[in-house]
Amino acid sequence: MAETRKLYIKTYGCQMNVYDSERMAEALGGSGYVQTDRADDADMILLNTCHIREKAAEKVYSELGRLKGLKAAKPDLKIGVAGCVAQAEGEEILRRQPMVDLVVGPQAYHRLPDMAARLDAGQTALDTDFPEEDKFERLAERPKAARGPTAFLTVQEGCDKFCAFCVVPYTRGAEVSRPAARVLDEARDLVARGVREITLLGQNVNAYHGAGPEGDAWSLARLIRALGDIEGLARIRYTTSHPNDMTDDLIVAHGEVEQLMPYLHLPVQSGSDRVLKAMNRKHDAASYLRLIERIRAARPDILMSGDFIVGFPGETDADFEDTLSLVRAVGYGQCYSFKYSARPGTPAAERAEVAEEVKAERLARLQALLTEQQRAIQDAMVGRVVPVLFEKPGRLAGQMVGKSPYLHAVHATAEGLAPGDIRDVRIVESAPNSLGGVLAGQ
Ligand code: 5AD
Ligand code: SF4
Repeated sequence: MAETRKLYIKTYGCQMNVYDSERMAEALGGSGYVQTDRADDADMILLNTCHIREKAAEKVYSELGRLKGLKAAKPDLKIGVAGCVAQAEGEEILRRQPMVDLVVGPQAYHRLPDMAARLDAGQTALDTDFPEEDKFERLAERPKAARGPTAFLTVQEGCDKFCAFCVVPYTRGAEVSRPAARVLDEARDLVARGVREITLLGQNVNAYHGAGPEGDAWSLARLIRALGDIEGLARIRYTTSHPNDMTDDLIVAHGEVEQLMPYLHLPVQSGSDRVLKAMNRKHDAASYLRLIERIRAARPDILMSGDFIVGFPGETDADFEDTLSLVRAVGYGQCYSFKYSARPGTPAAERAEVAEEVKAERLARLQALLTEQQRAIQDAMVGRVVPVLFEKPGRLAGQMVGKSPYLHAVHATAEGLAPGDIRDVRIVESAPNSLGGVLAGQ
């Protein structure tokens, strides 16, 4: 047995990074690392970084600057940078912050045990390759810990869409789907360890086309149906999707697979056809709205979620008004919206920027509308009875918090509830970011 050392991972960005951080912790478990939630207690600090928006790299450099003191006090402390900034910056990180010991890109996490051994030998380690060997296969060899009732499961990585603003095709690489049997094995293992809800992850998850057992490619819908046969798996979700990959079989699955939750994150980015074209989105506003109509025909109560970018290069007031119109036409229950920020290396970074004040003003107007919609949809839950998957104790004694099928956070007070329980809850109140309820029949 290797000696026990403490590992602190700070995770930025998307859910895939959360999944990756779990896998990295497992991978380093074999090198004697156990996770801690205190940076000042750690023998290794890993920053799992995100490069999607504004000044990502600069934020990582300032975070590293803040860690200098810890390193000075504890020279044996190892500091690593993982994730998309590691991929994008590579060796530059070691040049700018020589106290960094390890730089590892998202496609090389399975090599972490070898890299940790190099650190133990007093060397630095850098790996931003896109290796041929199967990262997930190698990562799966590690022993796994007990888990809570919800889990992420990466089924697809990378993106071939090349939206003009986005770094993902560069940092995560080309689209790759994991074989269906591997995903099903991992899902069965998660369920055996207490997981009741699995969220399938991919940068373009609905483009999933993993090899099936007979060698033919499985669609996401087919994968979801197979997951639906796993006894004990009560809930299935997936994120993030591109409108053009929302195939008929997936839409039908929303109406037929009981475990598939009525929530769909389907980013559109803009409501202006001119901007959508400049973004290289390869769909227009009308086709997006027709798509949502079809999805709602299959699953009328589905809660729609999306992403928007305001102030994309060339966006006029009229384009922005088109975005507001689209939002009004859809009625989102949840949304993320951002000011455009130029990402080095992407096509849009070469174009003239919209003024910062204009971006800020548009973002405020869009967010006001989105918040209003979100609130109205959430408030309309009051009086309804919905099944809640309870996840953990709430802030008050006797309280548990969990999620509705629509991903609303719900808290309820009840004796004898345990994480993983699913109970019908009557919703009695709607607060800004959560619902309150009582167990139905009490
Ligand atoms: N600027 C602003 N927002 C961006 N996103 C991606 N790239 C950028 C960028 N350069 C947003 C998109 C995407 C979400 C994950 O982040 O809305 O869907
Ligand atoms: Fe980025 Fe999503 Fe467009 Fe792919 S589909 S390039 S991940 S915004």
